[in-house]
Amino acid sequence: MAESMKGLKRTHRCTEVSTANVGQVVTVMGWVQKQRNKGGIIFVDLRDRSGLLQIIFEESDIQAEGMEKAEKLRSEFVIAVVGRVEKRSGAVNENLETGDIEIRATQLRILSEAETPPFPIEADSKTKEELRLKYRYLDLRRPDLQGKLMLRSKIAAKIRSFLTDEGFLEIETPILQKSTPEGARDYLVPSRVHPGSFYALPQSPQLFKQLLMCAGYDRYFQIAKCFRDEDLRADRQPEFTQVDMELSFVDVEDVIEVNERLLQYVCREAIGLEVSLPIPRMTWQEAMDRYGSDKPDTRFGMELTDVSQAVKGCGFGVFTSALENGGSVRGINAKGQAEMPRKKIDALVDFAKGYGARGLAYLAVLPDGSFKSSFAKFMTEDELKALVEAMAGEPGDLLLFAADKNRIVYNVLGALRLEVAAQMNIIDENKFNFLWITEFPLLEWDEEENRYTAMHHPFTMPMDEDLALLDTDPGKVRAKAYDIVLNGTELGGGSVRIFQSEVQEKMFQVLGFSKEEAYNRFGFLLNAFKYGVPPHAGLAYGLDRLVMLLVKADSIREVIAFPKVKDASCLMTNAPDVVDEKQLEELFIQIAMAEETE
Ligand code: AMO
Ligand code: AMP
Repeated sequence: MAESMKGLKRTHRCTEVSTANVGQVVTVMGWVQKQRNKGGIIFVDLRDRSGLLQIIFEESDIQAEGMEKAEKLRSEFVIAVVGRVEKRSGAVNENLETGDIEIRATQLRILSEAETPPFPIEADSKTKEELRLKYRYLDLRRPDLQGKLMLRSKIAAKIRSFLTDEGFLEIETPILQKSTPEGARDYLVPSRVHPGSFYALPQSPQLFKQLLMCAGYDRYFQIAKCFRDEDLRADRQPEFTQVDMELSFVDVEDVIEVNERLLQYVCREAIGLEVSLPIPRMTWQEAMDRYGSDKPDTRFGMELTDVSQAVKGCGFGVFTSALENGGSVRGINAKGQAEMPRKKIDALVDFAKGYGARGLAYLAVLPDGSFKSSFAKFMTEDELKALVEAMAGEPGDLLLFAADKNRIVYNVLGALRLEVAAQMNIIDENKFNFLWITEFPLLEWDEEENRYTAMHHPFTMPMDEDLALLDTDPGKVRAKAYDIVLNGTELGGGSVRIFQSEVQEKMFQVLGFSKEEAYNRFGFLLNAFKYGVPPHAGLAYGLDRLVMLLVKADSIREVIAFPKVKDASCLMTNAPDVVDEKQLEELFIQIAMAEETE
């Protein structure tokens, strides 16, 4: 039977005990990592969230009853131990923070027994993630996961203290909101009191933080849960956490300035990383041209080269027709990869097709200067030479080309660049390359809907010098929007907001909203703007992503205590799940589900 804590009080966590305590009596509590019975002497590694501590049980110290209990100990039993701190009698364990001491137990209580866990509780587990997520409460005992979550807590605490010191107020905004779909699908919550009506869970606190600016709160922040019903990836969860902020009476520079200091402070305090300021900046156009991505990983080169000029009028129809259709031909140079086997090149072609390419043209410059290529036969020697020169190709290089509309060429080569770099193993994992991307396009053309949509959101301010283009050439308008990127991941993004009603109305026009539709959706914000609105701007980070990158985790799931899997379900609780008929009735909901086909 489990014993009680009566009369016991923990004095130290496991690794809080050190040689400074030698000779003292301490009380420690935790989980049995391992028990070894050496006949007459029993060793136990005790574990808590701080780490491991060795306990020694010998009959001369603890007497027969205590020894009997110690013999019963199994992994994951929860125990309390009172004992004397001593220098290690055996060899010092260099791998352990407490490797030079041990506790000689005088009292043992078994607070809770444990069944054998379905997988060993150890760092860098080899157990399949699915099983670990099913038993997440056990998985969460593993020291590497605990380390990540403890660091997450520290990062959040440092963010809070920095922003508070900078005059930001922490204000909560509602979780039950009106549905105003931004980019992703909303999660909807049916109302019982208003049958047929729904709340939406927030995709971000965007509109409310703008209202807080209208209300004069001047600088706001929130560590806010956000919900987006979108396809999951390694850096995406359906519910995630934003560090969200908004500032009044500011422009782009002010937002960037305070956020650079925030990032520098948090990186220094959390992981001892020194971020030198200012963080480099790149316009969106430059990022696309050089890296084919609006979140470039600048830890390595292999930049894109536009070879449209070099191949103009050449004999290869794939290239020339792309140019005739207003597209471009661009390439990357995989240095030293000329000998890549055909099979691997074919796999790269398939990879490129997965990103929308119709094909991937390649040209290997062999060590003897000759070419091996999928298109050399269509080009003259001079044309090939001009192309290789444009790519700065040298013997040993593999040149990879995409020819299509710019959007596709960027997308394909941006992804291919990352893939080839990963295969070549040239990414320095010890680098932390922060980068601001600025001057995003205000609008994107939506082929399906045949209209412009806002690239960031409809309240993003056009750049002053592009305002006039809103009437004449909306696709060319750049926005006062910015993203912060770390090692090729979008860490955060934001913008200066529109605060003049004329500009906002024009924006809605371009987006194809009638005034009525705009008021229907966003009336509360537009009305608020009629009563005195300060110029304002803001930004939100994905906290999960920030922690993921700072701890060098492969997936966002490793820094979220209870994450969801790819199909947005929770393997531990089995959510989402069916509910009682009665619950549905109260909500006036009927399930109209297609009959399952066998
Ligand atoms: P945005 O939509 O760019 O901007 O989101 C801000 C940041 O939130 C993180 N993020 C996610 N993290 C995990 N899983 C997801 N599904 C997910 N979606 C987004 C990213 C992203 O950079 N209201 C604006 C901000 C503003 O303008 O102030 C907004 O939400 O790291
Ligand atoms: P094809 O003439 O279709 O056999 O293509 C010749 C070579 O060009 C093959 O290596 C194709 O993969 C490649 N290719 C086809 N379409 C494109 C494209 N849009 N961009 C780059 N290469 C392409």
